[in-house]
Amino acid sequence: MTNCINMEGKDKAQELMELWMEESSTDYRKLMAYYECAIMEVETKFKVLSKNFSLGDDCNPIESIQSRLKSSRSIFKKMQKKGLPLTVEAIEKNLHDIAGVRVICSTISDIYALADAFVGQDDVFLVERKDYIAEPKENGYRSLHLIISTPIFLENQKRMMEVEVQMRTLSMDTWASLEHKFRYKKESSPYIDEIAAELRACADACANIDARMQHVHDLRNKA
Ligand code: GTP
Ligand code: MG
Repeated sequence: MTNCINMEGKDKAQELMELWMEESSTDYRKLMAYYECAIMEVETKFKVLSKNFSLGDDCNPIESIQSRLKSSRSIFKKMQKKGLPLTVEAIEKNLHDIAGVRVICSTISDIYALADAFVGQDDVFLVERKDYIAEPKENGYRSLHLIISTPIFLENQKRMMEVEVQMRTLSMDTWASLEHKFRYKKESSPYIDEIAAELRACADACANIDARMQHVHDLRNKA
């Protein structure tokens, strides 16, 4: 079962979710606010690193940073799918991507240099690292994924929060955005194999651009 909320049950599920959110509202809202704080902390860390890196060679390694808080609907669906209880504690313990920060970098070497500097900070604790650049997914997906835990400082407490960080180049991001958009219709298509093959070919073409841009970047830095 991949989707617990089908179209027929949509209204019922929506109703259930709203009821649950009302019941757990204060604690749930607090938790979401803490995740927002963690996003701000992580964004700042990358902005500081970017500034710091660009002092060296006058070349900003970050193209853009995008952040998102997982929607209540997605949280609800994921907890249902995993068969987990809908409590604030269970949500925090089992979902590691409620706070998401995506860092779009100029080159692959920028991704690794920034990632190393980021996880090397003494208030960043690495929980999980998945290197889909060194080992792309079967469909061609590439990115470096980090799940980290970092403190946020509240009025009278320090609280550790998990954040999922996705680091990719512009070409990896272009591919992932379009693949995500086109994926929804793919399942029922008679051209499913052709689509998958084309997407893999596009991923290879994007990887080729990254390799050549890396070469340009390295030549520039040699001069
Ligand atoms: P979930 O967090 O439950 O999705 O499983 P997981 O932790 O095994 O996933 P993983 O860390 O591999 O990927 C998490 C996120 O990376 C997804 O939510 C997407 O944002 C992105 N991602 C992973 N694989 C793909 C892919 O094939 N295509 C695209 N477009 N994005 C992907
Ligand atoms: Mg995940």
